[in-house]
Amino acid sequence: MAGPAPAQGQARATRKLLIRTWGCQMNVYDSGRMADILAPLGYAPTESAEEADMVILNTCHIREKASEKVFSDLGRLRETKKARAAEGRQTVIAVAGCVAQAEGAEITARAPWVDIVLGPQTYHRLPEMVARASRAAGAVIETDFPAEDKFDHLPEARAPQGPVAFLTIQEGCDKFCSFCVVPYTRGAEFSRPAAAILAEARQLAANGAREIALLGQNVNAWAGASPDGNSWRLARLLRELAEIPGVARLRYTTSHPRDMDDDLIAAHGEIPSLMPYLHLPVQSGSDRVLAAMNRGHKADLYFRIADRLREARPDLALTSDFIVGHPGETAADFDATMRLVERIGFAGAYSFKYSARPGTPAASMAGLVPEAEKDSRLQTLQALLRQQQDDFNRACVGRVVDVLITGTGRHPGQVAGRSPWLQPVHATGAAPVGAVVPMTLEAALPNSLSANMVHEESAAA
Ligand code: 5AD
Ligand code: SF4
Repeated sequence: MAGPAPAQGQARATRKLLIRTWGCQMNVYDSGRMADILAPLGYAPTESAEEADMVILNTCHIREKASEKVFSDLGRLRETKKARAAEGRQTVIAVAGCVAQAEGAEITARAPWVDIVLGPQTYHRLPEMVARASRAAGAVIETDFPAEDKFDHLPEARAPQGPVAFLTIQEGCDKFCSFCVVPYTRGAEFSRPAAAILAEARQLAANGAREIALLGQNVNAWAGASPDGNSWRLARLLRELAEIPGVARLRYTTSHPRDMDDDLIAAHGEIPSLMPYLHLPVQSGSDRVLAAMNRGHKADLYFRIADRLREARPDLALTSDFIVGHPGETAADFDATMRLVERIGFAGAYSFKYSARPGTPAASMAGLVPEAEKDSRLQTLQALLRQQQDDFNRACVGRVVDVLITGTGRHPGQVAGRSPWLQPVHATGAAPVGAVVPMTLEAALPNSLSANMVHEESAAA
């Protein structure tokens, strides 16, 4: 559930909205926007399906498992909808996101109790679709890629998101990696104009955001119209965002190695508020597999980018995505991935077994890797990545770092926050949400770091 609290001054909440979100940060952001769009219609967030007058499943299609989970959730919702109907209560069920885009017809065939199927480009039509669905018997399907900019139609006012805010600056992908559905489900690359992004960022900062994470499927491919009539690249946008009062931290995700231009690498050394942390998927360390994946770069480009980033910002941590068992991947290719991981040293990573997505080029490639082989490669890779993540966390112990306070800790008298490297941190003491507090990192626990506030120590000394 990612719906933020409703904004003040809206219509009185009379209905409940449940949004379940799968997949990437882009979907988390979209869920927030859908909640914003529906708030003026009187929809207030709930976590309970039984209570919800409208349920939106904001779905992810990137791997097969994610799509199947949507169908099992829909099975459960059918029962809830029936039980509510028996009590005379209507339930509108909507499927949004990339499964909706890719499998709209299949959803209405397999789950006819779904009322609305909407693709990621049509969220601004949600109020109209809800109204139509409440009246009509058959499902409403909206999964076209309309020419108009969906961002233009979203409400200006953003509900406060807390100290960490997401801001979508780019959508879609023109890269067509062999294995990936995103170019088909999210459409062509589109960059929002700089002025709109800067205005939204100022509003987020005014609402209390201290950290802004820029989102895009190919965020570093962003090339937007600038207020001076030129086209800016991401580094320039980051420099402008860094000037906004109150914005203490900037991040961007997800990036492609091919779009790490010189200015962006330099920006990591020049913008203090740009956090020393970059998620830069490489997928494989083998040039043969990278070519089969249509990634458009070799392993060497990744090494050079990593070296230059660390030259610009020595404390920069890298994280990545990996796929093992892409069609044609041999044991030697997999070894090359292991060697890349050893050489780079990642602070964290996501790794997946290749799964064929219908309609993508890799789905019809020869050289399928047996499931058992994929399993064993994944285990080998994940053991190394886990060890590197533990090493990274342990190496942080003893350092004094700025922690952005995001809330209270699990135990009384504790605060929780996040480090510059996105690690969850907790410490004893009091500090307001949104404060950036220097802390000494004391111990690396399995999923977080414990810390001491520097000023409390000095006060006690
Ligand atoms: N099979 C396995 N993993 C995939 N990813 C994308 N498509 C597939 C697929 N067909 C992974 C990639 C990508 C991440 C978001 O999901 O590693 O970077
Ligand atoms: Fe998919 Fe490749 Fe585009 Fe990333 S760059 S969204 S993996 S096609």
